Amino acid sequence: MKIRKAIIPIAGKGTRFLPATKEIAKEIIPIINVPMIHYIVEEAVNAGVEQIIFVTSSGKYSVEDYFDRNQELEAFLERNNKTKELELIKRIGSMVSVTSVRQKEQLGLGHAVLMAKEMIGNEPFAVLLGDDIVINDIPAIRQLMNVSEENHGAAVIGVMEVPPEDTSKYGIVKGDFITDRTLRMTGMVEKPSSKDAPTNLATPGRYILTPEIFSILEKIPRGAGNEYQLTDAINVLCQKKDVFAHKFIGERFDTGNVHGYLDATIDFALKNPETRDQMISSIRTRLNKYGITL
Ligand code: G1P
Repeated sequence: MKIRKAIIPIAGKGTRFLPATKEIAKEIIPIINVPMIHYIVEEAVNAGVEQIIFVTSSGKYSVEDYFDRNQELEAFLERNNKTKELELIKRIGSMVSVTSVRQKEQLGLGHAVLMAKEMIGNEPFAVLLGDDIVINDIPAIRQLMNVSEENHGAAVIGVMEVPPEDTSKYGIVKGDFITDRTLRMTGMVEKPSSKDAPTNLATPGRYILTPEIFSILEKIPRGAGNEYQLTDAINVLCQKKDVFAHKFIGERFDTGNVHGYLDATIDFALKNPETRDQMISSIRTRLNKYGITL
């Protein structure tokens, strides 16, 4: 069954980006001039997703507005013959159908996903978290859809290898490899210490899930951090049904923190022919200015 819908939870307060997030949604913070959320939605759309469901909290209207048409701005650009900009703005406003549901209390990722139950109905769906941007010609979430299609529509969790000291930042899967990159899962644990981690295969927040997950989410107790964890529900699901983990291909930027954000900014500037030369000369000038030799 084709995956038509994707849940993107955006209710988080973005405390790692304070003070900016005091007044603006973390998701709207741009890498150069493109908001981070644009990359996440684009990944889903390029994978064939037709409807995005944002799980929101107060102060997130700008994310919904960003993907809506802005008639006033369009009229202004048209009057001023800014054709290129007008096309760009129209394209973003009609990129995908967007709906949203409120998460009234921040009780964890499992709770956030459960809020979208009615909007998903009885079909498989994708979940993408906004803290990681993954760049690849075949979108990471599409790669997971492909594995799901090859395995009778099973749930598939996207994973990547992390150093042992980082297992405590992620959901970690365990299972047995059935191909080079795919495992049949036997369990999943939220943020284990390196000592307790069953593997070093971590999810940066790319999931294909089946609707059975909702009834599990309704029953699980609070887990790590006293929150309702999606990881705990997936752990239950894989005891009942085939669930796979897949090492997707792609370059991943951890834009949920300031260091990863800086990496992505420099990388994207160097990759883009319009900004590349300026970035190189800026770096060269600043290294000289501060007497830094590499
Ligand atoms: C969440 C999930 C975790 C996942 C991570 C990816 O944690 O609970 O399993 O690995 O996102 O970013 P958070 O980073 O929201 O604490």
